[in-house]
Amino acid sequence: MRVGVLTGGGDCPGLNAVIRAVVRKAEWHYGYEVIGFLDGWRGVVDDEWVQLDVEACRGLLPKGGTMLGTSRHTPFSLPDGMSHATETIRGLGLDALIAIGGEGTLSCASAMADRGFSVVGVPKTIDNDVGITERTFGFDTAVTVATEAIDRLHTTAESHARVMFVEVMGRHVGHIATWAGIAGGAAYTLVPEEPFDLDELCAALLRRRARGRYSSIVVVAEGARPRPGTLEMDEPPVDDYGHKRLGGIANIIAAEVEARTGLETRVTILGHVQRGGTPTPFDRVLATRFGVAAIDAVHHGNFGQMVALRGGAIEPVSLRDATARLKPVSRDLLDVARTFFA
Ligand code: F6P
Repeated sequence: MRVGVLTGGGDCPGLNAVIRAVVRKAEWHYGYEVIGFLDGWRGVVDDEWVQLDVEACRGLLPKGGTMLGTSRHTPFSLPDGMSHATETIRGLGLDALIAIGGEGTLSCASAMADRGFSVVGVPKTIDNDVGITERTFGFDTAVTVATEAIDRLHTTAESHARVMFVEVMGRHVGHIATWAGIAGGAAYTLVPEEPFDLDELCAALLRRRARGRYSSIVVVAEGARPRPGTLEMDEPPVDDYGHKRLGGIANIIAAEVEARTGLETRVTILGHVQRGGTPTPFDRVLATRFGVAAIDAVHHGNFGQMVALRGGAIEPVSLRDATARLKPVSRDLLDVARTFFA
């Protein structure tokens, strides 16, 4: 059997660990041949790929990024993309394709499966927003990086009696912000799930100051937005793929908080630091489990499915269901975070 693998969308720690696991199980246990498409779906459309074997994947497990490269292109976004992708898949005699990606890549995988292609999905993203699966790999690494940054910011915040704003990724959901906020002892966390009220934030920070807490950490998800009519903000620019280019909202909020409260503020935007570098042990293990489960799904002919973490076990779920809606932060966890906004 000949199996293709691709990594699409934003990169994420653990992608290489999935590729390595797929290749090892495919070669050692099933005797399958694996090829890797370059730059996600673009490599399928343009027929650009490399041969993958155990030797080619040696040393990959702790490496961040993706050895295959990635892009946000899909056969639906490129001119004649579907017909070129079909030619490539037929020409190579591919029996199956494993698509490792987030919302965009997996929605494309689902659409390809609906058109009769033998596709299996693997969910990745530091944002942890893919539906049905309890976790995506990369998230634990991002939370670890953000929490370490917050731990460091506490000491300088205390020394100068400042309010430190820490902006983390999370365009549609606030998983990273909520976890890092709770783990890092944030005074307040702003997430896309709940439009924020600047007056409430200012009041909470002033209450803390009145109680003798001279410094505070506020975690802001890049996709957080104010309640309509409470703060003037420009719409962010859009990139070539129609994605809003986020980043920097913490600067606007911090300036407004300083103006309204007189508290001195500083801003740290963590940006792509959260996405780079080596995956945590948790992410290496989850990525490896997903990779093994994906090639098993190919072996068993479970196409149109995505491997997912559910109740601690890896299970195949429908790609269509998994991509139907994003997974927000649970109300329970938001309530736990809110307990500390006193
Ligand atoms: O991987 C998802 C994500 O981390 C979002 O939270 C963020 O907005 C986006 O990627 C930024 O990606 P890029 O700068 O690569 O377009």
